[in-house]
Amino acid sequence: MSKNILITGASSGFGLLIANELHRNGYNVIGTSRNPEKIQSTVPFKMIALNLDSEQSINTFSERIFKEISQLDILINNAGFLVSGIAEETPVELGRQQLETNFWGTIKVTNAILPHFRKQKFGKIITIGSIIGLVSFPNAAYYAASKHALEGYFKALRYELDEFNISVAMIEPSAFKTNIMDNSTSPFNKIEEYNSLRGKIEKFTDELVKNAEDPKIVAEKVLKVVQTDNPKFRNIVGKDTSVLINLQHFAYGILEKNVLKQLNKS
Ligand SMILES: NC(=O)c1ccc[n+]([C@@H]2O[C@H](COP(=O)([O-])OP(=O)(O)OC[C@H]3O[C@@H](n4cnc5c(N)ncnc54)[C@H](OP(=O)(O)O)[C@@H]3O)[C@@H](O)[C@H]2O)c1
Repeated sequence: MSKNILITGASSGFGLLIANELHRNGYNVIGTSRNPEKIQSTVPFKMIALNLDSEQSINTFSERIFKEISQLDILINNAGFLVSGIAEETPVELGRQQLETNFWGTIKVTNAILPHFRKQKFGKIITIGSIIGLVSFPNAAYYAASKHALEGYFKALRYELDEFNISVAMIEPSAFKTNIMDNSTSPFNKIEEYNSLRGKIEKFTDELVKNAEDPKIVAEKVLKVVQTDNPKFRNIVGKDTSVLINLQHFAYGILEKNVLKQLNKS
């Protein structure tokens, strides 16, 4: 029987490519969107409604998903968006919205699925983080906060779910050509003193967007993680991954070994 995979945010960008790639490889894919009716006729897999910002939508979704399928094998948390702008210029409400969708929305969906994974004693949770969840970046403080939060949260979950045979992995892409910039939100009011820095950041971002890579690479990486029995936690994708990230990676590796040693002793 082919595995059932649920992927959030499958209407665009990475999500759409990942869903198509998995479908092509024989998996039974269910995708989500806030407006599934807009895309259903254009994709070969089932789309269902999910709005990460709405408690009611998440409840309806979690009731519906297990009517569609008797067993879920893999959850891919992909849906998210970008608030870009200087931190001090960004109204806290907008920052809160960033965390509400990218962090809390993802956690609520995961919590809706976890009882089923625990009951069946297997499952896999793959979450699309970001390189900005490992190192921070100016003009994206709240986005960085949301992605750092996901990193910390899912790392803890990886330890907690090990005994239930549920694996937890992150995908950390650098810059890829999707619709993320077009779908981003920025604060309206600007503080003049930041104009010089803003100019430099805009130049850097234009260059980054121009050189952004083909998002198919991320879909291929996700397929590999789906096919791997015990995938590693961090899966960095993209050419702009600096020495700094590798060093952090190395340090985390040592830390992780020590934590596991302590846990095994107790
Ligand atoms: N592009 C990059 O360079 C890059 C790099 C690192 C990480 N990422 C991460 O990759 C993931 C996908 O982004 P993308 O680049 O593919 O952007 P995208 O093309 O804008 O796609 C975003 C997807 O998320 C869904 N979504 C957005 N807000 C939602 C909400 N409140 N509730 C439910 N679904 C929502 C959208 O679905 P609907 O609008 O149909 O509801 C859409 O399918 C995000 O988590 C992003 O942070 C992207």
